[in-house]
Amino acid sequence: MSELLELEGRIRACTDCTLSRTRTNAVPGEGPENPRLVFIGEGPGFYEDHEGRPFVGAAGRLLEQLLAGIGLTRDQVFITNVVKCRPPENRDPLPGEVQACRKYLEHQLRLLRPQVVATLGRFSLGHFFPQETIGRVHGRPRQTGDVTIYPLYHPAAALRSSTVRKALEDDMKRLPAVLKESGLAQAGMQPQVTSAESTTQQLKLL
Ligand code: URA
Repeated sequence: MSELLELEGRIRACTDCTLSRTRTNAVPGEGPENPRLVFIGEGPGFYEDHEGRPFVGAAGRLLEQLLAGIGLTRDQVFITNVVKCRPPENRDPLPGEVQACRKYLEHQLRLLRPQVVATLGRFSLGHFFPQETIGRVHGRPRQTGDVTIYPLYHPAAALRSSTVRKALEDDMKRLPAVLKESGLAQAGMQPQVTSAESTTQQLKLL
């Protein structure tokens, strides 16, 4: 069994915080074992809790649409969350819950070794840059070690506000260029391309 699958089993059985008492299923995340791109949301909602899979509700449908817009499908990327169990009534995760789950996200990222991590929303951004605000840094890629962090608004916020939706759509369009530049950065080369790529070119990137 792969280390990623073993980790998934540990997450599904975890009782390290009180969210484990109210969940139906823990939601470890899903996707290929060697993705170039990982999306990190906040935490499972109602449908995710029932299915044990991330982003299967309305926010997930928007995420899939946005991915399709840049020539990607969800099975080409790894999708996970900051907390792996649903907070009751979809409330914000508490600091202790985020802290209890932190080890799992860190372990997943060590195993997945993506080129780009796209954070969705403020909790996911806070995992990497606790001092930053999403309104200030969305759409601005930042290199940390071998990984490029690309902060995005959360799709659920985009469903509530047309301004946020426009910003998320614009930022997503730049994701292929971010992926390409991060690949060049890993290879120790100077990025040449800064504009958005065509869909055909993007497909070649994954
Ligand atoms: N919102 C999230 O942050 N994660 C999910 O998995 C679904 C909705």
